[in-house]
Amino acid sequence: MSSTPGPTPVVGDLVTLQGHILAQQSHYPEATGTLSWILSALSISAKMIAAQVRRARLADVLGAVGTGNVQGEQQQKLDVIANEILLRTLGGREGVAIVASEENEEPVILRTEKEGERKYCVLFDPLDGSSNLDVCGAVGTIFSILRHDRRATRAEDSLLQPGSRQVAAGYILYGPSTVFTLSIGRGTDMFVLDPAIGAFVRVEQGLRIPATAKSYSVNEGNRLAFPAGYQAYLDHAQRNGYSSRYAGAMVADVHRILLKGGVFLYPPTSKAPQGKLRLMYEANPMAMLVEQAGGKALSAPGRRILDEQPTGIHQRTAVIIGSPGEVDQVIGHL
Ligand code: AHG
Ligand code: MN
Ligand code: MN
Repeated sequence: MSSTPGPTPVVGDLVTLQGHILAQQSHYPEATGTLSWILSALSISAKMIAAQVRRARLADVLGAVGTGNVQGEQQQKLDVIANEILLRTLGGREGVAIVASEENEEPVILRTEKEGERKYCVLFDPLDGSSNLDVCGAVGTIFSILRHDRRATRAEDSLLQPGSRQVAAGYILYGPSTVFTLSIGRGTDMFVLDPAIGAFVRVEQGLRIPATAKSYSVNEGNRLAFPAGYQAYLDHAQRNGYSSRYAGAMVADVHRILLKGGVFLYPPTSKAPQGKLRLMYEANPMAMLVEQAGGKALSAPGRRILDEQPTGIHQRTAVIIGSPGEVDQVIGHL
């Protein structure tokens, strides 16, 4: 037998979120690094919020603050803490012109643009699914980054751009591990926080959502309040051996669907005729991540979420999002 050594075993590259962002930046020769700095602020926020979420019960920060947010919804103490973390970390980044949050009625103008500079707007849902916290369920953060429109006279005018103009979007899932899912418009990539080294490590590059899967995710308690077409789809699903999975946090539900396939629905209801979820900091970023992974995201038949022209930063929308085959199946019933 020859003693020639075999090929060197191939060990997968270890790529951190920071390394990934810098590599992506190199695809754009005109990039100045401003966006990379903003993404790094979001990664720091994610680690800070993850630490707070882990200790919530011990630090006695579970439960409601006793005030409502702009949507008239109960604010949990951690909604407020997560919001402050994001405002603080993003506030320190020169490249951020305006931030808008689910928890603040008005956008916060941080700084104006000087000639020749490029600045960005960041919109976010600091804690998604926050009512899950009391029962140690998964929660998340969702963000959307738009280019600042320097011609806009009011902050709102710069923010009210359709989701197709997002420069980047992502979510962070605080579950058994902390997962950062990001798109900078060149596919969707996923990172898991390694607590031993304090860094997000890439686990999926150019993620592809399964084309179909017999799985739907919807609050079925509202079923009788859904338009007839949605009820017909649920009849179809239940006659055909589908599974129902609903975490009550869009981040957790869409995360599962990105990996395993299926469809996430938040239809219009009699109580919320426009739908419940917020277009600019829930639906748009999720739509970008899912489309960049080969999925579909619609608000109604023939209406792509990313093409909706927003008229208010807290505007709501119906959501049909997930595997292309399953979204088509739902649309076929509407
Ligand atoms: P938030 O906690 O940011 O208000 O968002 C909760 C959202 C979303 O994450 C979830 O999918 C949906 O509300 C759940 O609503 P229902 O309780 O009506 O099912
Ligand atoms: Mn939310
Ligand atoms: Mn929220």
